[in-house]
Amino acid sequence: MTDEPIIYLNGDYLPLSRARVSPIDQGFLLGDGVFDVVSAWKGRIFKLDAHLDRFFDSIQAARLNHDMDREAWRDAIIETTRRNGLADASIRFIVTRGEPNSVVADPRDFTPTCIVWVAPYVFLADEEKRQTGIRLMISATRGFPADTLDPRYKCLDRLHSQLIRLEALEAGYDDALWLDHSGHVSESAASNLFIVKKGVLYTPSAGILRGITRETMLELATELDIPWRECALSAFDVYAADEVFTCSTAGGVLPVREVAGRTIRGATPGPITRAIDSAYWEMRESDRYATAL
Ligand SMILES: Cc1ncc(COP(=O)(O)O)c(C=O)c1O
Repeated sequence: MTDEPIIYLNGDYLPLSRARVSPIDQGFLLGDGVFDVVSAWKGRIFKLDAHLDRFFDSIQAARLNHDMDREAWRDAIIETTRRNGLADASIRFIVTRGEPNSVVADPRDFTPTCIVWVAPYVFLADEEKRQTGIRLMISATRGFPADTLDPRYKCLDRLHSQLIRLEALEAGYDDALWLDHSGHVSESAASNLFIVKKGVLYTPSAGILRGITRETMLELATELDIPWRECALSAFDVYAADEVFTCSTAGGVLPVREVAGRTIRGATPGPITRAIDSAYWEMRESDRYATAL
């Protein structure tokens, strides 16, 4: 890695200390922007196309008009990662509405800010917890219903995620699950949820960010002949599960050993969690879905 991280900012590659965003950038003032996080492992970026698809869906829905097309983003992501010399990296790309072009800030009249930030790859949990499982609470904070801020926007406005993380950490848990407004389980602050019951894999179908790792879990389950279903799940389903795990770009599969004081009955990690976890890392180390650095 170079001495200082290199940031891509609006067409330039700059050392972090020289990369400056305006204090009146709407991303900073209002959380008005979208982002995505892809990761590299052993010199391969995983599922870059799927991440770009999701990023461009958020850009389109948030009407963030900007000049960079898909190929320009792809080039900036690869080039920033190369310049940072990291084979295992967490790569965040961001577009904000940027600075207003006029005094009266009409949201259609802005110059967007485009950023790529590459950091060493981090796992959401330490090695011990990845082996023995994490503890989840059920948060008192509900997720956004789709008719307010649809959870499919991967947007900068993450105060609600911070609130549930704070709530969980203050209560001595590792993370927390959100319920949606009908009381169904949705996801955690930065991961999707899976449970296993009698050999079948289940995951919430709505009220969630469409995680790329979640999609990969379902793909792997099909390949491993593990039956799966996307459906509404209640807290009871999670308490009574044989296996529970969360998943995200930051670390893949994370086994869960306890939810809101209920110890998960099966082994942690259980056999299906283990099978999917090892297939996931095998896929990541293969050339399938890989963009070489
Ligand atoms: C709310 C939320 N759910 C799920 C995920 C997992 O998504 P992915 O697998 O694409 O990293 C994230 C990732 O940041 C997230 O913020």
